[in-house]
Amino acid sequence: MIVSGAASQSLAAAVSRELDEPLAAVTYDRFPDGEALASVPELADGDVERAVIVASTTSSDAHIQLLQLQDAAREAGVPEIVTVLPYMGYSRQDAAFEAGQPVSARAIARAVSTSTDRVLTVNPHENAVCDFFEPSATAVDAASRLAEPLPADLVEPVFLAPDAGATELATTVQSTYGAGETDYFEKTRYSGTEVEITPSDVDVSGRDVVIVDDIIATGSTMSEAVGVLTDRGVGRVYVTCVHPLLARNAMNKLSRAGVEAIFGTDTIEGPASAVSVAPVLAEQL
Ligand code: R5P
Repeated sequence: MIVSGAASQSLAAAVSRELDEPLAAVTYDRFPDGEALASVPELADGDVERAVIVASTTSSDAHIQLLQLQDAAREAGVPEIVTVLPYMGYSRQDAAFEAGQPVSARAIARAVSTSTDRVLTVNPHENAVCDFFEPSATAVDAASRLAEPLPADLVEPVFLAPDAGATELATTVQSTYGAGETDYFEKTRYSGTEVEITPSDVDVSGRDVVIVDDIIATGSTMSEAVGVLTDRGVGRVYVTCVHPLLARNAMNKLSRAGVEAIFGTDTIEGPASAVSVAPVLAEQL
C-alpha cells in the first residue's frame, strides 16, 4: 500500500501506478492548537503487507506528518514499512558548521529511522547523509530523468554544472540527452543568498546551455550563472534540477535573468515539476 505525505500526493499516486500497488486514503487534520494529525484508516484492515510512505519533508509539518504516518503503520502491525523521502529537508545541514550548532540532518535521520525498515531518498545533497539513517538509506539517482523535458533541437548544447559538485549530474543529463558537452563553473558562497560564480573558458557564444544542479533554493546560484552566460553571448538557457524548492522569489529571479524554462522533478511538487521520479523509485521498490 502506498501512503502519501501531504506534500507528495501526486508522486505517491504515480508510484502507486508504476507498482500497481493500491494508494491509501490519507487524511491530514489539524487541531485548534495547530497540532497536525495524519491518519490512514485502511492500514488497520489487517491485510496490508507493506506500507510505502512517500513524503517529502519540505516543512516542519511535513516532518511531523511523516513520523505520524510511520507510527500509524507500526501501530497497525504492518510487517514492512518503507519510507521514501523524495526530498529530504534539512539535508544541507549535514555538519555543525559553527560551534554550538546541531548536525540537523543527523537529528532528522535518527527520528525518521525509528519506525521504518528501510529508507530511500532521491539525490541527497551529499550521499554521506544516507549514513545518518539506521540502517543507511539508499540514494536513488534521478538525474537521467532531467533530460526528458528538454527540447530536442538544442544547438551545440553545453550541459553546465554551476559548481563542481554538480558535475556528475550534468554529465548524466548530457549522456542521457545524447549530444553536446559537459562543463562546470566554480562557486563561492558568501551567505544563504549571495554567491559568486567563476566561469570556465568554455565557448558558449550562440550555443544553447542547460544548467544542471541538484537543488534550486533561492535561485542565486542559477541566476549568477545565467548572468555570466548572457555576458558571453549565449543562445537559449534552460535550468534544470532534481529538487525545485524555488524558495521566496526564485522563480521571479530566474525569469528576470532570462531563462527559457525551469525544469525540475516532482520530488517537490510545484510549477516546475516537469518530470516524475516515480519510475526510478519503482525500480528500487
Ligand atoms: C549547493 O551546493 C547546491 O548544490 C545548490 O547549488 C544550492 O543549494 C542552490 O541554492 P540557491 O538556489 O539558494 O543558490
